[in-house]
Amino acid sequence: MAFPEHRPRRLRRTPALRDLARETRLSPADLVDALFVVEGSAVREPIGSMPGVSRLSVDQLGDEAKRIADLGLAGVMLFGIPAHKDARGTSGYDPDGVIARAIRAMKRAAPELVVIADICLCEYTDHGHCGVYENGEVDNDQTLPLLARSAVVAAEAGADVVAPSDMMDGRVAAIRRALDAAKLEATPILSYAAKYASAFYGPFREAAESAPKSGDRRGYQMDPANAREALRELATDLEEGADMLMVKPAMPCLDIVRAARERFDVPLFAYQVSGEYSMLQAAIERGWLEAPRAVDESLLAIRRAGADRVISYFAKDFARRHRG
Ligand code: PBG
Repeated sequence: MAFPEHRPRRLRRTPALRDLARETRLSPADLVDALFVVEGSAVREPIGSMPGVSRLSVDQLGDEAKRIADLGLAGVMLFGIPAHKDARGTSGYDPDGVIARAIRAMKRAAPELVVIADICLCEYTDHGHCGVYENGEVDNDQTLPLLARSAVVAAEAGADVVAPSDMMDGRVAAIRRALDAAKLEATPILSYAAKYASAFYGPFREAAESAPKSGDRRGYQMDPANAREALRELATDLEEGADMLMVKPAMPCLDIVRAARERFDVPLFAYQVSGEYSMLQAAIERGWLEAPRAVDESLLAIRRAGADRVISYFAKDFARRHRG
């Protein structure tokens, strides 16, 4: 059937008809917020490169947890930024470290809120790499037990989900074994399985003070040129015991999100990362893009590509505008 019988504009004529024909919907329950937690008290420190996002101290998290829960968001991803960083990232797996205290504070204030702990060493190491760094390289196998310990500490503190973002080989299996050995067999793993060595993490590294002091992350994060390799990474993490998978970043990787959706039947997450957020905010500040339409379109595109859930620094903003 062709024009004039076929007239696609019939279904676009009114808001009600457009609503009737809409394929993809986005609600606060599809979104996961992300938070940076620092030491100290009464800290709400704006992040220069991420307008609208602040680092919060642990005492601020009770109220924040209640706000996130009240907004109906799917959960929150937590990043700890310790006062002291060292070569082996010890505060990342200290039961009294900033991340463990942050998890406890949030779960105490809002027990029903899903708290996801990012598991990586880069926020906690003085060299800024995601693992044990020796002779100019990250040592994969020395890093695994430290990640496993971080996951156990986070789960013992009450994290509902642990989310390894380090890209070491074999880390999902190592974390699964360690959780099970600690009787934490009920704690699910959300693996940042297809994580690219992306320029779009720039603002995050300012927020977390986690930029590598030397070198870069291309020796462990994926080459943005590769798509088939992402499918292999996703499959590997599932075999190792991941319960949920993530693709990161989101907008530069919508093809990967779609391919992952078609191939795997587990919950699929995509992370709209700091650079995607800051890029939109910068254009909005200049009046070059229209808020909130550009924000909502960016989130919808990620859902439409096939992600079940989107981690985004716009989560609270979106939820405030789309309260049920
Ligand atoms: C930790 C981690 C990073 C991000 C999430 N977990 C930084 C990195 O890999 O350099 C990036 C998130 C963002 O940019 O918003 N490894």
